[in-house]
Amino acid sequence: MSLIIEKLSKDHKKSGFDCENTVLNNYIQKQAKQDRNRDLSVCYVLVDSENKKIVGYYTLSGNSVNTQDFPLELVKRMPPSYQNLPTILLGRLAVDKEIKGKGYGAILLMDALKKCVDISRSLGVLAVIVDPIDSNAVTFYEQYGFILLPGTGKMFIPIKTIENF
Ligand SMILES: CC(C)(COP(=O)(O)OP(=O)(O)OC[C@H]1O[C@@H](n2cnc3c(N)ncnc32)[C@H](O)[C@@H]1OP(=O)(O)O)[C@@H](O)C(=O)NCCC(=O)NCCS
Repeated sequence: MSLIIEKLSKDHKKSGFDCENTVLNNYIQKQAKQDRNRDLSVCYVLVDSENKKIVGYYTLSGNSVNTQDFPLELVKRMPPSYQNLPTILLGRLAVDKEIKGKGYGAILLMDALKKCVDISRSLGVLAVIVDPIDSNAVTFYEQYGFILLPGTGKMFIPIKTIENF
């Protein structure tokens, strides 16, 4: 199987995708295309280049976070008048159960973070935000340096940290 990462298009086969999470399965099958059409997010898919079957995906969206949600350590360097700080939301990340545990989740995450760094060169971005779906997902993101945003259930990683990966 030869896998590539592409922007979601009508050529990709999404039926049968199963990451063992119903919300994330339904998203790629029913909502990802609509969100793209409404300019709410862009979905990138990991596909088998031979049959175009989707075996993983992630989404990116523009986002902002209330300044007070960030740790004081980070916020104290920010202008006091900024009520929100610019971020990118890595809203969803999932891998089909058939290829779990083989490093593709990490590959998709690194691809997403690289895109965020590229975007940050033409648009102000303080951090990348993720919205972990459960405690396993929190553990997954923690290994890469994501930090919990207290009281939100979300996590962040400063763009400067990613640049030093
Ligand atoms: C989380 C998920 C994307 C990981 O994908 P994967 O391809 O199985 O992960 P990888 O093989 O790339 O593993 C990368 C590292 O994460 C760890 N890891 C994988 N899944 C994990 C999980 N659910 N919880 C904690 N750690 C996990 C692996 O042990 C590995 O660590 P190592 O490099 O020290 O060995 C995948 O399990 C998935 O789709 N889960 C359902 C949806 C989900 O939880 N998405 C997360 C965000 S909403």
